[in-house]
Amino acid sequence: MILTHVTAMSQNRVIGTQNKLPWNIPEDLKFFRDTTKGHIMIMGRKTFDSIGAKPLPQRFHIVITRQDLQSTHPLVKYVKTLDEAIEAAKPLTAQWGEEVFIVGGGEIYKQSMPVTDKIYLTVIYKDFEGDTYYPEVPMDKFELVAQSDRTDPVPFSFLTYKKK
Ligand SMILES: NC(=O)c1ccc[n+]([C@@H]2O[C@H](COP(=O)([O-])OP(=O)(O)OC[C@H]3O[C@@H](n4cnc5c(N)ncnc54)[C@H](OP(=O)(O)O)[C@@H]3O)[C@@H](O)[C@H]2O)c1
Repeated sequence: MILTHVTAMSQNRVIGTQNKLPWNIPEDLKFFRDTTKGHIMIMGRKTFDSIGAKPLPQRFHIVITRQDLQSTHPLVKYVKTLDEAIEAAKPLTAQWGEEVFIVGGGEIYKQSMPVTDKIYLTVIYKDFEGDTYYPEVPMDKFELVAQSDRTDPVPFSFLTYKKK
């Protein structure tokens, strides 16, 4: 299994405000959609709420919460810890692919950074106000392996980091 963060952050590391994305960048949303489609996504309960607490099409959702929540949807599973999320993903990779995406939010990115193999990081070259941040990438453990720059609707880059 490959564990991959997918995240978009501003240059001041903001990823969210009031449980929403602070920007609207269509190409980045398309990148997220195309990258995660057909795969398992692990996320925190607040991020699941931010997408309307219902699954996105053609993806398996593993949602981490301390609450006793029961899923009524076949593509949504609630678990109590990050470790449990990874264990729950293992038997599903045969159907949903070896690359498992960790899609936020701030709490889950922070807790999973030590076990992450790869990071798709979109950096928007602007400051935004927000209440949720992406943690520092430990550059002694990761290296930048790809960069693709864009200008529309704001300057931003798609970066790929891999564990050394
Ligand atoms: N820009 C991006 O790429 C991106 C991506 C994703 C999300 N976001 C943004 O990030 C924000 C949400 O992030 P967030 O940090 O507030 O919340 P989050 O990480 O999505 O979810 C936090 C919740 O996860 C559960 N949780 C966290 N750690 C746990 C643990 N160790 N054991 C069990 N459960 C645990 C708890 O759920 P319970 O309270 O239910 O117990 C906690 O309240 C939103 O603004 C969203 O729009 C941005």
